[in-house]
Amino acid sequence: MKKVVILSGAGVSAESGISTFRDSGGLWEQYDVMDVASATGWKRNPALVLDFYNQRRAQLEHVEPNQAHLDIAALEKDYEVVVITQNVDNLHERAGSTKVIHLHGELTKVRPEDSYTAEDRYDESRVKNVGFVAVKPGDVDERGVQYRPHIVFFEEAVPKLYDALRELTEADFMIIVGTSLLVQPAASLWQYTPVDCPVYVIDPKDTPIDGEESVVPIRDKASTGVAKAIEMIKATS
Ligand code: OAD
Repeated sequence: MKKVVILSGAGVSAESGISTFRDSGGLWEQYDVMDVASATGWKRNPALVLDFYNQRRAQLEHVEPNQAHLDIAALEKDYEVVVITQNVDNLHERAGSTKVIHLHGELTKVRPEDSYTAEDRYDESRVKNVGFVAVKPGDVDERGVQYRPHIVFFEEAVPKLYDALRELTEADFMIIVGTSLLVQPAASLWQYTPVDCPVYVIDPKDTPIDGEESVVPIRDKASTGVAKAIEMIKATS
C-alpha cells in the first residue's frame, strides 16, 4: 500500500467551530501566547494557563469532526495513512483516523509538571486522561505533583518530532491542510519527504511554500480541498 502522510493545523478544525490562532478573530488576538501557552507563562501563572486550556477542553466536547477529518479517515481503506497534527483537539481520532501523531500534545490529557525526563521526553506512564473535565490548581497526582496540560508549550522541546520525521521519509504523498506554516519545527517537516513525493497544500490563503517545486497548492477550505487532493492522489496511484 502506498503511504499518505497528512500534516494538519488549526484550519482543518475551523469548520467544526474551533478558532484558528492567527486568522482575524483568532485566539492570539484575544490572548498573549506567552501568558497562556509558554513554559514561562506556566511558571508565572499556572491558574491562568489551566483556565485557558479548560475553556478549550470544554469547547471540544461540543464540536464534531467535519468532512475534511472524515475524508482523511476514509483514506485508510486504500492507503497507509499517518496523520501528523499540530492540533490538540481529538477530531481526527473521532472521525476514525487510527494513526495520529500529536506534535503539540492533547487537550484531553494532563501530566504532572515534573514528568519531563533528562532526554526532553515525558514519562508516558504518568500521562492521565481527563476527557473534558476542568483541571484546577491543587489537582495533583499520587506523589502530590500539580497536573499541567499535556501540551507542548512554546519554549519546550517537541518530543514527537522524531516519530513524525520517520513517517515523512517514507511518504509517497503528503497533504498539508489548514496551517499557516509559521511555527517550527512543524513548518519544515515537508522538506523531509522523498524528492518525488508530491506535497498538496490546502488553505484558502497563500502559504509560504506555494512556489516550491514539489508543492501543489489547492486554494480552498479543508472540507472541500481535502477531497480534491485525494482525487489527485488516486488519479496517479
Ligand atoms: P494558524 O492559526 O497559524 O493557521 C491556520 C491556517 O488555517 C491559516 O493558514 C488559515 O488560512 C487556514 N484556514 C483557516 N480556515 C480554514 C479552512 N476552513 N480550511 C483550511 N484552512 C483554513 O494555525 P496553525 O498553523 O495550526 O501551537 O498554528 C500552529 C501552532 O501555533 C498551533 O499548533 C499552536 C499555535 O500557537 C501551540 O499552541 C503550541
